[in-house]
Amino acid sequence: MVHYAPGVVKGVILAGGSGTRLHPLTRITNKHLLPIYDRPMISYAIEALVQAGIGEVMLVTGGTHAGEFLRLLGNGHDDGLDRLLYAYQDRPGGIAEALGLAERFVGDDPVLVMLADNIVEHTFRPTVERFIEQEKGARIVLTAGQDQTHLRSLGVPEMDESGAIVRIVEKPENPPSGYAVTGIYCYDPSVFQVISTLEPSGRGELEITDVNNAYVARSEMEYDVLEGFWGDAGESIDAYYAVNDFVRANGANKG
Ligand code: TTP
Repeated sequence: MVHYAPGVVKGVILAGGSGTRLHPLTRITNKHLLPIYDRPMISYAIEALVQAGIGEVMLVTGGTHAGEFLRLLGNGHDDGLDRLLYAYQDRPGGIAEALGLAERFVGDDPVLVMLADNIVEHTFRPTVERFIEQEKGARIVLTAGQDQTHLRSLGVPEMDESGAIVRIVEKPENPPSGYAVTGIYCYDPSVFQVISTLEPSGRGELEITDVNNAYVARSEMEYDVLEGFWGDAGESIDAYYAVNDFVRANGANKG
């Protein structure tokens, strides 16, 4: 059994996409450059990875404002990273496609992927530590406590009696559990083989849920349930403000 060495987990932050649900704000800038309380949204994802012990990160973005990430973050040293690399996604072809652009950066290492519009109250460092102990496979972060209406707009895992995930259903009419999949995923390097087998979904994207269900089918999917607040600031303008209000009152990425 081969355990990953601590510190070897690479980070990928996804900050592309169209951000249509935040139009018209996102007609004039990239969603992840919008403010959350006193900082651009992207800063929280960088901070989250640094808190989780990840030092080497690739940021994937696209569109007409990609250069502004470089101006804001530079080589990442000021934000506590050892190395920050960038990739450009030509068109918003999906979360899994965006992750695929990091293949050569990740190489044979395990990777943690974070969607840059996700904000967490508490660090997910324990998940990274547990993932390092895994021999292989994937580990995702779930959140509890979302209401039924909200669950119907999210990815929801179905579990068996032992608590193992048997599948993840996107936007279920009847949510099979009270948990939702957040935008924080850990994968072994075989994730890039999985991505290479994906077909575009009905909306023309390579779907991260298909990646996760491939690991579920191999019985190689583990999970943790996040403590405290989780928010997707890109879900709606109301969600964006709810995240702002929460962070202003309580902070984010706390130890
Ligand atoms: P989404 O919120 O699913 O998509 P979006 O950002 O395009 O927004 P909307 O649905 O309102 O048009 O994306 C989740 C995260 O993944 C977001 O932080 C951006 C990132 N992403 C990419 O990096 N590349 C992509 O092709 C897509 C679709 C998303």
